Amino acid sequence: MRVFDTTLRDGDQMPGVELGLEDKIYIGHLLDDLGVDYIEAGFPASSEIDFRVVRILSETSRARIVGLARCVARDIDAVVEAGAHVVHVFIATSDIHLKYKLRMSREEVVERAVWAVEYARSRGVEVLFSAEDATRTEESFLLRVYRSVVGAGCRYINIPDTLGTATPWGMARLVRSVRDAVPPWVMIDVHCHNDFGMATANTLAGIYGGADGVQVTVNGFGERAGNAALEEVVAALHFLMGMETRVRLDKLTLVSRKVSEYFGVKLPPNKPIVGANAFAHEAGIHVHGVLQNPATYEPLPPEAVGNRRRIVLGRHSGRHAVEWALKKMGYEPSRGLVDYILSKLKEVAPRMKKVTEDMVASWVAEYMGTGSRGYRSAPCAIDTR
Ligand code: KIV
Ligand code: ZN
Repeated sequence: MRVFDTTLRDGDQMPGVELGLEDKIYIGHLLDDLGVDYIEAGFPASSEIDFRVVRILSETSRARIVGLARCVARDIDAVVEAGAHVVHVFIATSDIHLKYKLRMSREEVVERAVWAVEYARSRGVEVLFSAEDATRTEESFLLRVYRSVVGAGCRYINIPDTLGTATPWGMARLVRSVRDAVPPWVMIDVHCHNDFGMATANTLAGIYGGADGVQVTVNGFGERAGNAALEEVVAALHFLMGMETRVRLDKLTLVSRKVSEYFGVKLPPNKPIVGANAFAHEAGIHVHGVLQNPATYEPLPPEAVGNRRRIVLGRHSGRHAVEWALKKMGYEPSRGLVDYILSKLKEVAPRMKKVTEDMVASWVAEYMGTGSRGYRSAPCAIDTR
C-alpha cells in the first residue's frame, strides 16, 4: 500500500502554523526515514520557502518528492524547476466550485485538466491529478474528468474528499466507480479531510473500494479539522486490514511527537496510537486484565508503534493496580496497606488530578507511622517502563 504524506503541504496549511525552511527540511527527513513513499513537500509557485524545500528534499530524499500546482503553466513550471519528481496538478470539479470560484464551465474544466496533464508530461515529470471536491461532484462528470486525464497520459489520480463530507460507504462506492472507469494500471489515491471526524474511516473505506494509496498527514494536521492521520491509517491498515506499507511502525510515536513540537501544536492525550493515554489504564477491571495479559484491553502492543503502556493510579484504581504499584516501588503490599492507599486515592486523587510516586510513598510512610514526608512535586505518573 502506497503512503503519500502531505504534512508539508496540506498539513502546513493548518491555520496558525508557520513552518520555516529548516523546520520543513527537518520534518521532510523525518518522513523519509519513516518510510513514506511520496512526500508532498509544498506548493512551489506559492512561496520561495516551498520552492527551496522541494528542491532540497528532491536532492536528498529516498521518497519521491511532490510539488503542488494549479492547472496553469506558471505553477507547473515552478514545480519542475524546483526539481520535484512528481507534479500534483489539481482543479475543482464540483458545480459550486465551478460557479463561485473558478467561473468556468464543465467543458473548460475538462480542457484545462487535460492541458495541464499534457503540459506537465511534456516537461518530463510524473503527473498526479486531483479533482478537488471530488466527493461533491456530480459522479458522471467526475468520471468523465478522470477518464479524460487518463486519456491524456496520466497514470496516477487522487480522489479528494475536500470538505470531509463523505461517509465510509459513500467513499467505498465512489472509489469503486472510479476504479471501474479507468484502466487497472492507473494508481488511485484517496485524500480525506476530517470535518466530521471520519477521515481515517473514509480513507480505509476508499482502500476497500479499490484505491491503492492513501494521502495522509502526521497527527492529521491540516486545514480546518485536518486530514486523515498517517499514524491511524497506517496502523489500521496493518493491524486491522492486514495490509503492509513501507512505514516503520515503531517510529510512529516519535515522528508524531517531533511533528507536534515543530508545528507548535499539542496533541490531546487520547490521540489514537501515539497519544500519552493511548495505552494508559486506570480503571480497576482494565488494569487487572492488562496485568494478566495486555491484549485484554490493548488492541495492539504499544511498543509496535513506539508508544508505551502506563498504569495510572487514581480514583478508579482497584486492588491489583495498587498491589502492582507498591511492588514496583519496593513495598510489600499487605492487605492493610493496600486498603489504606485505596482510601487515599478515593479521597485525594479527585483534588490532586495526578497521583505521583512521591504521593504514594508519603501515604505508605503515613501508614507505617513514620509520619508524612509531604509531597515532592515529582512529575511522574506511575507507569510501566
Ligand atoms: O483537499 C483537497 O482537495 C486538496 C487537493 C489539493 C488535493 O488538498
Ligand atoms: Zn486536502
